[in-house]
Order: sequence, then structure tokens, then C-alpha cells
Amino acid sequence: MNTKQKILAYMREHQQIISGEKLANELQVSRTAIWKAIRELEKNGYRFDHLANGYRLLPSDMIEPALISNQYLPAELIFYQPSTASTMQDAKKAAIEQHLTQGLFIADEQTQGHGRFGRSFFSPSGQIYMSLLLSPNQNFQELPQYTILSAVAVASAIDQLVGEQTAIKWVNDIFIREKKVCGILTEAISDFETQRISHVIIGIGINFFIAQEHFPEELRQKVTALFHEQPTITRNELIRLIWQNFFELCIALPDMQYLDYYRQKSFVLNQQVTFSQNGEKITGIAQAITDKGELVVQAKNQVFSLSSGEISLE
Ligand code: BTN
Repeated sequence: MNTKQKILAYMREHQQIISGEKLANELQVSRTAIWKAIRELEKNGYRFDHLANGYRLLPSDMIEPALISNQYLPAELIFYQPSTASTMQDAKKAAIEQHLTQGLFIADEQTQGHGRFGRSFFSPSGQIYMSLLLSPNQNFQELPQYTILSAVAVASAIDQLVGEQTAIKWVNDIFIREKKVCGILTEAISDFETQRISHVIIGIGINFFIAQEHFPEELRQKVTALFHEQPTITRNELIRLIWQNFFELCIALPDMQYLDYYRQKSFVLNQQVTFSQNGEKITGIAQAITDKGELVVQAKNQVFSLSSGEISLE
């Protein structure tokens, strides 16, 4: 831990006004080093009261690996940047150039955030943008499971912490108040020779705290944020619970219980849906979600099993 991290850890543990002298003694650095570190922390967005008898750490919503890590994901494997082009690119680069096999890449804003079908993903500061890199060594067909697991992990974390009732639009959009609040994108890096996936990257974007009028006009009717007013939880708490849920679901994978939850949350089942296949628009009733996560759609004369793609509800 560097001095900045030590100051944060100490002040969080002691939750009181602490003099510069005491901090310097406890952390065994000079008072100038404490003063400099506090100034840097303030530049990074942390807030302190400067009082006659010392400093007090004020609440802030900075993303911090130490507050996100859990038994499955140590803080050393969590990489935070205030701004990046896309956390998907960060994860991919780490896998290919640094041969990293696991890691979580988080940013406060993205300048080239993207979603499925190459669409851009609105990524202003203060929301949640993250990509988890995994090296599961599985077959290509297993990919939809990750999308579904992630959707369940996010939806249940929001239910647990925010108290909003989430719904899932097959395959990977999370809705609250009938608007999209989170998008999930799963990409694979595959080994052509072995026909196996060498890495999976799960990208999650959540609109955390943003006023409705700050969304671009073309999105305003379709998307929303978890909070429009002062959030009741921190981003760290939500991110931590999402990945805690995710890894616990992965461990419990063989019992397939996550699929029951996914089906319960799905608002497309028994609805009329439209999708495109080979340039043709097909309409039918979404009848089931299979154990592989495929959507079974009964059209006029034919039953379709969709494994990916996009559906729209009439
Ligand atoms: C979608 O709705 O189509 C999926 C959106 C996925 C967005 C996330 S934000 C973090 C990660 N980085 C990106 O550029 N995309 C994903």
C-alpha cells in the first residue's frame, strides 16, 4: 500500500478527526508526506474536512479496488482508471499483451464505449463501466451462459441493494421502471486451432446516477438510471455485490438455479416478439428459455430457437 491508500484505510477504520501529526506517526512517514498525499487524494476526488485539530474523511463515491475485492477477486486484479476508451479494449489488451488470465477493468467514464452490434454506448462520468476478463477454457457454445449469469448477478444485486424491481429483456438488458438501466456485452477471444475459448470478457455498463435530461434526446425515452437523486449506496458496494453474486453463481453452476431466476425476471416470456433472420422480419410468441439460454419463439408455422441477437416487443 502506498501512503494515499494507507491514509484512506486508516481514516476509514478510525472514522474521526485525526491530526496530521498522529497520521504521520501511525503511518511512519513525514507530516509533509501526509499533507502531499491528502492533496493528491483531493485531486483524485476524495473529500476531507480540514479542521483546526486535524482531517476528517468525508463520504465520496470514488471507485476503489480495495472496497470491491472479495475472496474471488483480489484488489491486485482490479484495475481502475478515471477515463479510458473502453474497458473491453483494456481487458483484451491485458489478455493479449500481458498474458493476464483474470482481471476486472473499471472506468469512471469511457470515450469509445460500445455495446452489442457495434453500437456506441453512452458513457459519461460517474456511472459504472467494467469488464471482467476470465480464462475459462470452454467450448464456443458456452458463451451465452456467461451473459445469462451476468444478467442474473446484476439484477439480483440491484434488487438486494437498491430495492428497485428489475426485469430482464432477453438476452442481456436489465430494466427498471420499464426502461433499460444496464447493458451487458460478452466477447470471446478464441483459439482457432483448439476451437476453444481462451478468454471471455464480460462488459457491464450501468447508468448509476444521472438525471433523465442528461441522457441524449434519442435515448431519453428508452433508458434510465438507478438513481436520479442522491444515491443511497456507493458504486463500490454495487460492483462488489455483482461480482460476488457472479462468482457464487459460477460455483453453483451445475444446479442451474440461476436459470429459474432468469426466467422469473424475464418480461419477454409469453409476449409477442419480433426478430430478424436472414433479412426477414419474423414475429411470434416467446414461449420458453431453454437450459442453454436460448429463446424459443413460436411463429406461424415454425419454432425458432434463438441463441443470440435482438428481439423487439410490439
Ligand atoms: C449493450 O447494451 O449493447 C451492451 C453494453 C455494454 C457496455 C459496457 S460498458 C463497459 C464495457 N465497455 C464497453 O465499451 N462496453 C461494455
